[in-house]
Amino acid sequence: MKVTLSVIKADVGGLVGHHVVPEELEEIAWDVLEEYRGELLIDFDVSHVGDDLILIMTHEEGVDSPDIHGIAWEAFQEAAALAREMGLYGAGQDLLKDAFSGNVRGLGPGVAEMEIEERPSEPVVIFAADKTEAGAWNLPLFKIFADPFNTAGLIIDPKLHSGFRFEVWDLIEHRRVFMSTPEEMYDLLALIGSPGRFAIKRVFPKPGHVIPEDEPVAVASTERLYEEAGRYVGKDDPVMIVRAQHGLPAVGEVLEPFAFPHLVAGWMRGSHWGPLMPVGVKDAKPTRFDGPPRVIALGYQLKGGHLIGPEDMFDDPAFDRARAMANEIADYMRRHGPFEPHRVSFHDLEYTTMPEVLKKLEGRFEPLQ
Ligand code: F6R
Ligand code: MG
Ligand code: MG
Repeated sequence: MKVTLSVIKADVGGLVGHHVVPEELEEIAWDVLEEYRGELLIDFDVSHVGDDLILIMTHEEGVDSPDIHGIAWEAFQEAAALAREMGLYGAGQDLLKDAFSGNVRGLGPGVAEMEIEERPSEPVVIFAADKTEAGAWNLPLFKIFADPFNTAGLIIDPKLHSGFRFEVWDLIEHRRVFMSTPEEMYDLLALIGSPGRFAIKRVFPKPGHVIPEDEPVAVASTERLYEEAGRYVGKDDPVMIVRAQHGLPAVGEVLEPFAFPHLVAGWMRGSHWGPLMPVGVKDAKPTRFDGPPRVIALGYQLKGGHLIGPEDMFDDPAFDRARAMANEIADYMRRHGPFEPHRVSFHDLEYTTMPEVLKKLEGRFEPLQ
């Protein structure tokens, strides 16, 4: 059966600053989605990472469905209303416009959706990160689907051996390019090594795979909040769906890149590089310097569109070392204070509130002789 998995997230208010989504907001979002269970929605789940509320929905309406996006919008609006009532911080932060016209894209929320022919057993991992940007998925996605030092199956399993096709978005010029690995691995890395500019949107199997070549095996949200808002309102805090097993990377290969807490842009005021710390949901609450950036992984088995799970995949001592390393990196990076490369580049600060600060210096600059 064809089923669509839609993961839509938004920051609609935080308990104690930009810290965490309180239970009440998850409950109200749950109640909204519950009204549509068995009608438009087959199944759903509600979760959070830091101050981002995450809606996970399954249905048969396909991607970009106005009905499904409408449900998400309604859930976010209701949660934001409660957040306002409770005086939560940044209530309604990511709901940039009042008028919903059929799609939440461009209105603030982040979206990752895929329509797939469900396999007899369909393991999926949903990742969500707080205090970082969409390009944060580039390194792990590359490792999962193209790096044999991460994914043993690329070498060992004939079904993975021919590699994968990447859809890469240029987030500044608003264009995209498809690239295949292993053939174009170096060209691909030339682009995605600059995660502020290029972000992997989807990954596809190659022709001859058990999964049709036009069906994504991974999809990420690539919304850029500052662009949509026209001003700095926080980082994008992306989500991502990755399918696993049986001709795809194993669940363990999908999780393995996160054993290395790589540096991502975001953290305090969306303006600092810091390590991406993999955590269980109970620890998905950024504290130190509003961080360090966190990532959670929710594992589900899909069956007839029903979500069996979640399994909290990073709630595992096997990731303790990654967390300890992230803390050490956090110490090291923090000691740079306002200096690059802890602080993001001058160019990237243009997308924050920094230009306002610098405006007052404008008249004081004199030409050099
Ligand atoms: C980063 C983030 C926080 C805020 C910071 C200042 O994505 O959300 O680090 O940027 O707490 O927030 P305001 O300007 O709302 O006081
Ligand atoms: Mg917030
Ligand atoms: Mg957030």
